[in-house]
Amino acid sequence: MEERLQKILARAGFASRRGAEQLMLEGRVTRNGEAVRELGTKADLERDEVRVDGVRVKAPRAAVYLVLNKPRGVVTTRSDPERRQTVMDLVPAVAGLFPVGRLDVTTEGLILLTNDGVFAERVAHPRYEVPRVYLAKVHGVPDERALERLRRGVKVDADFMAVDRARVVEADNNAWVEVSLHEGKQHEVRRLLEAVGHPVSKLRRVAIGPVTSRGLEPGQFRALTPEEIDGLRRGKAAAAGPMRRLANRRHRSRAKNRGRGASAADAATRRRRSRPTEAAREAPARVGSQADSRRRAHGSARGGPRAAGPRRGGRR
Ligand code: URA
Repeated sequence: MEERLQKILARAGFASRRGAEQLMLEGRVTRNGEAVRELGTKADLERDEVRVDGVRVKAPRAAVYLVLNKPRGVVTTRSDPERRQTVMDLVPAVAGLFPVGRLDVTTEGLILLTNDGVFAERVAHPRYEVPRVYLAKVHGVPDERALERLRRGVKVDADFMAVDRARVVEADNNAWVEVSLHEGKQHEVRRLLEAVGHPVSKLRRVAIGPVTSRGLEPGQFRALTPEEIDGLRRGKAAAAGPMRRLANRRHRSRAKNRGRGASAADAATRRRRSRPTEAAREAPARVGSQADSRRRAHGSARGGPRAAGPRRGGRR
């Protein structure tokens, strides 16, 4: 489609419209090899070669934001030299799409994929404190001292690591522990829990900021909603509501346990059955699967629902 050059340049991120006019007036913009100084000049990027200081102007891609529930055994990479199944095999083939951060091959759970580099950097950077929530099945049952060590921080090898929240959500001989953190060091959750004496046998990421795994079976993906995209961009601020509610609930339950003694409080914690996090209660709308993804055009990952209900106790 033919459009004024200053509009094309602004949309492609070269300058504001005013700035683009200035670039044109300075003779730094060419169309098919000719400098264009006239401000009303139009071009069509499908047909014309437009350059600024010799740099080719490309049509901006529609931004795509997906969340995939990665199954265990799938590798978080764009291509695997060992030809194992990758996260890219489970989502539509969209130009420039890449996973944001990574999950270990043996970890299941949420991974974001986008072709928007600025968004990815923002979500991945610890400064914005986008909380990641994990459920870990661990050997033994961590007591309050071990959980407090996780919260205060542990030095493992050369890295100092800490969780923002930690609690036992289900316990028998072994336990399921929910931890929330916002950093993203390699094997962080496994290393942390091992360091406090509770090695992880299963690990699942169940939330990233406002995005939860509810309704997404392993292998399924969906497009993020505009609210989720906005929430992820805002980082910690977006999670303040649910985090505050959780903190209040913990405070109330601590107050109730006060006077019963530490062991009674620990036992109460252990008896508590698995509960989804506050954030995990928000249901996503529609999901897609690997089979759907092959059929789907880019950017329209929402689609035909596949049976996708929340999981029950044993498989957590
Ligand atoms: N922490 C881990 O130990 N593994 C993951 O895959 C993610 C966080």
